[in-house]
Amino acid sequence: MDKYKVTHRLLRQSIKSLVNRQLTSNNPIYRFISALPLGNGGRNPQLYRSFGSLATKVERNPSFSSLNSDDLSYFKGVLGEKNVVQDEDRLETANIDWMHKYKGFSKLLLLPRNTEEVSKILEYCNSRRLAVVPQGGNTGLVGGSVPVFDEVIINVGSMNKIIAFDKVSGILVCEAGCILENLISYLDNQGFVMPLDLGAKGSCQIGGNVSTNAGGLRFVRYGSLHGNVLGLEAVLANGDVLDMLGTLRKDNTGYDLKHLFIGSEGSLGIVTKVSILTPPKLSSVNIAFLACEDYLSCQKLLSEAKRKLGEILSAFEFLDSHAMDLVLNHLEGVRNPLSSAVHNFYLLIETTGSDESYDKEKLEAFLLHSMESGLISDGVLAQDINQASSFWRIREGVPEALMRAGPVYKYDLSLPVEKMYSLVEEMRARLGQSANVVGYGHLGDGNLHLNVSAPRYDDTILAQIEPYVYEWTSKHRGSISAEHGLGLMKANEIFYSKSHGTVQLMASIKKLLDPNGILNPYKVLPRSLLSYS
Ligand code: FAD
Ligand code: MLT
Ligand code: ZN
Repeated sequence: MDKYKVTHRLLRQSIKSLVNRQLTSNNPIYRFISALPLGNGGRNPQLYRSFGSLATKVERNPSFSSLNSDDLSYFKGVLGEKNVVQDEDRLETANIDWMHKYKGFSKLLLLPRNTEEVSKILEYCNSRRLAVVPQGGNTGLVGGSVPVFDEVIINVGSMNKIIAFDKVSGILVCEAGCILENLISYLDNQGFVMPLDLGAKGSCQIGGNVSTNAGGLRFVRYGSLHGNVLGLEAVLANGDVLDMLGTLRKDNTGYDLKHLFIGSEGSLGIVTKVSILTPPKLSSVNIAFLACEDYLSCQKLLSEAKRKLGEILSAFEFLDSHAMDLVLNHLEGVRNPLSSAVHNFYLLIETTGSDESYDKEKLEAFLLHSMESGLISDGVLAQDINQASSFWRIREGVPEALMRAGPVYKYDLSLPVEKMYSLVEEMRARLGQSANVVGYGHLGDGNLHLNVSAPRYDDTILAQIEPYVYEWTSKHRGSISAEHGLGLMKANEIFYSKSHGTVQLMASIKKLLDPNGILNPYKVLPRSLLSYS
């Protein structure tokens, strides 16, 4: 049964090589950033973002201090020389995000080894008003994981121990720096699965996953981290350690404060430990790769899959023909498993259950019926682990293919499934030949990834996309961030999805927990609500 294990190993290689690849001056996005008028923390206090949401201007908070030699001595005293990183190459990587779109110029990366060290350095930063950015695997897609100016980067990657695993309850307790893929492998060996899986698993950390409330590829089956995370430990801006590391399924004693930290993107505290509920590994996994000719058929197929596959459905992903073309053109060794005819939509459906012959029979009956009723125009069922892995490679490879194609404007939207693809078509009509509009995502969760691949970052193109996309989403009562968070990119756009009163309360909570605003400044909440004192 080690189907999963092998799939993950194969995927790991490709994703790892992507996530860890070096910056090169040939990369168009890197060249673009280099051309931006970026300054230095104290010296050039304004950053003009001409690639983001309509040239937003961000000003450095004047109440923040700049690093001095006493600060460095203090950090070295607490963490030891080698965990106080000033090396330029290491900093270059830590200052720039996965898309090579957001770039800060921090001069310091701190690598604490335990909660006590995190507490000491935060307490110190708070008293000195040194701003900090918590960073995990730096795979975030909204500019939340890198500094905007000279913020100190704190990465808990050295805190990567599994603390306990209870085989009866399936509850895992671990440090926040554990790499997601390592947890997946560990659990696999124990006969369990992680309820979260995503393309960046080879680099992202569980602390980063919790802090972004990551969704991923199996959300349709296991649901949100708000349900699966049973407890966590977090360190507040003033160094106080908040022990909420419960391991109980049920606990109704007062407000459940851990939920504040799930999805707060490092703006309320640094997550240092996590306890998470994991389901047992099931022995039969089947994966089908299908083609549909219109979006209505994709929708109908989703309803049918939910009804007919029911409890065994574990993924329902889609990509359109534009996404497929990108994958085929930009990723080595990837081929379309279906006939050479071009199809308009492709779906990846996975089932996971405990009875091999029953599950297969159920899936085959569903596919046969869908083919006869004309919902599916073509399809193939993975015959072995290599084929299964190659199907996943197509879907998981879309972000990488987009990156290779050049500059990309990324949107991550929750929308009613029946409306979702109309937005892609409207964007295509708006942008004409000037850009390639691509749609893919987690159809089973109503989560569209709308990406606009352009020859260059261009204000004219951006003005065609924003605020149109946000207004359209708001009009259909969707969310402008389904799973990636708000980060720097969408901090000022939160009102498209949340009422004024709600955002005001969020700002009050932020001020209560982080009165000096040192934790991940300029991100998540609108700058207008976070006045500098
Ligand atoms: P980072 O990118 O380092 O940080 C993300 C945010 O969390 C930042 O705001 C940071 O300040 C904060 N943070 C990080 N660690 C901590 C901590 N210990 N305490 C407090 N705050 C912290 N996302 C999905 O939801 N679903 C997907 O399917 C998905 N697929 C992806 C595929 C690819 C190829 C890539 C590159 C990204 C994908 N992402 C996806 C986005 C990203 O991987 C997730 O958001 C992930 O959870 C980020 O984890 P990280 O450790 O890399 O965090
Ligand atoms: C995905 O589903 O592939 C990820 O969320 C990344 C992306 O949106 O590009
Ligand atoms: Zn996604």
